[in-house]
Amino acid sequence: MTNTVAIGIQWGDEGKGKIVDLLAPKMDVVARFQGGPNAGHTLVIGDETTVLNHIPSGILHTDTLSLIGNGTVVDPFRLVEEMDMLLAAKIPVHERLRISDRCQLILPYHRALDAAREAAKGDGKIGTTGRGIGPCYEDKTARRGIRLVDLTCEDLDARLDENLRYVNFMLTQFFGAEPVSRSDVVEALDLARERLLPLAADVPLILQQRSRAGDRILFEGAQGSMLDVDHGTYPFVTSSNTVSGAALAGLGVGPGQVDEVLGICKAYTTRVGAGPFPTELYNAEGMCDSENSGRHMAEKGHEFGATTGRPRRTGWFDAIVVQHAVRINGVTGLAITKLDVLDGLKEVKLCVAYECDGERVEYIPADCKVLEACMPVYETLPGWSESTFGATSQEQLPENAKALLKRIEDVCECPITMLSTGPDRDHIIHL
Ligand code: GDP
Ligand code: IMO
Ligand code: MG
Repeated sequence: MTNTVAIGIQWGDEGKGKIVDLLAPKMDVVARFQGGPNAGHTLVIGDETTVLNHIPSGILHTDTLSLIGNGTVVDPFRLVEEMDMLLAAKIPVHERLRISDRCQLILPYHRALDAAREAAKGDGKIGTTGRGIGPCYEDKTARRGIRLVDLTCEDLDARLDENLRYVNFMLTQFFGAEPVSRSDVVEALDLARERLLPLAADVPLILQQRSRAGDRILFEGAQGSMLDVDHGTYPFVTSSNTVSGAALAGLGVGPGQVDEVLGICKAYTTRVGAGPFPTELYNAEGMCDSENSGRHMAEKGHEFGATTGRPRRTGWFDAIVVQHAVRINGVTGLAITKLDVLDGLKEVKLCVAYECDGERVEYIPADCKVLEACMPVYETLPGWSESTFGATSQEQLPENAKALLKRIEDVCECPITMLSTGPDRDHIIHL
């Protein structure tokens, strides 16, 4: 048995969908443990591109069971839309997918609160995906959330009334926004009852049975370690724990179930939304470096959000970020993605420390303002002009690309076990 947690270890969009889809045939179960439709995981198989928000990235494989764990938050409208998209592509979702009955439901008032909070923050906004993620996790922790299993509760109407009284007071009196109508919420609940409840299951029980039968489990993370609510760039983070440890609580398995932690990161760095990003070179406002490397990454890497379409901010590989992630996740191997995007750059850089107030800093400061003031200390390596796009063996790589990868391994103190050279499932080198 080798069970693997596969997680993003930068600010999300590292290529988790691609890597999980690629590993899935070797696994029997793929399970999501946190996040919700803020995630956008892209799978490219030939001419077909599939973007998944809630559904695990193993869903395209015949013999793989997909599980959505209790740690996730589920938007009935979006999940049903996602299921219908797959059904239209002849994927038998009902056979392959089960949803924890303990999942929290994202309801229309969560999205309304997300929007109202962001609007009220003005320039200080977090730049959320607007999918109601934060307010839904708040309700979970405040013990007023509505879970999938609660759709069958006798007191559902009363709980809904109480929640609506509270959220509509907040929306109208505090934020000066429009209230949410009861009928919109009831529509979401009815849809969940009709389409999601039939797939509800006791996920820990399934995992225990599968595990006893010798099946292999792949735990699929969403977002990235720097967006973790505890270990990320707080408050510019998402509202869940995104680290490997969350796989246990978010699915109901014990620590003995995890054998490997695969940390997925790009050969450079991107971020969507606001918050510190020490190696940033380029964003929607411009901010080009003299060599235009940041713009090169954004354009060649097609750096637009899979969920919201927002342009992603780009910058050099930050080894301090990756070292932090290796530490807090117990990463046992790195999957480096988008190496091909660096093709054609004269030089490539690696941030190996920060300079802050004249001092060298080699960890992520807890205070966002301090991180904001950190200047990257770079090592510069020669780039390469050859194409690595679609390479499937190490021998196809230019020497300078190999040298960069070797340096990443040394500085991050972690072996690279996979290298992605293009968006397609087949564009991969196993090391
Ligand atoms: P995720 O959220 O971590 O699953 O990543 P996204 O799907 O949001 O963003 C990653 C993007 O990069 C997607 O468009 C992928 O198709 C694409 N991608 C993944 N790996 C590679 C790669 O090695 N090279 C290139 N050029 N694109 C890649
Ligand atoms: P995947 O799984 C990149 C970011 C948002 C924002 C912050 C909070 O595709 O890697 P939220 O809506 O979660 O309250 O937003 O987190 N964010 C992501 N950035 N990839 C994601 O998911 C993200 N999910 C959330 O942009 O900065
Ligand atoms: Mg994404």
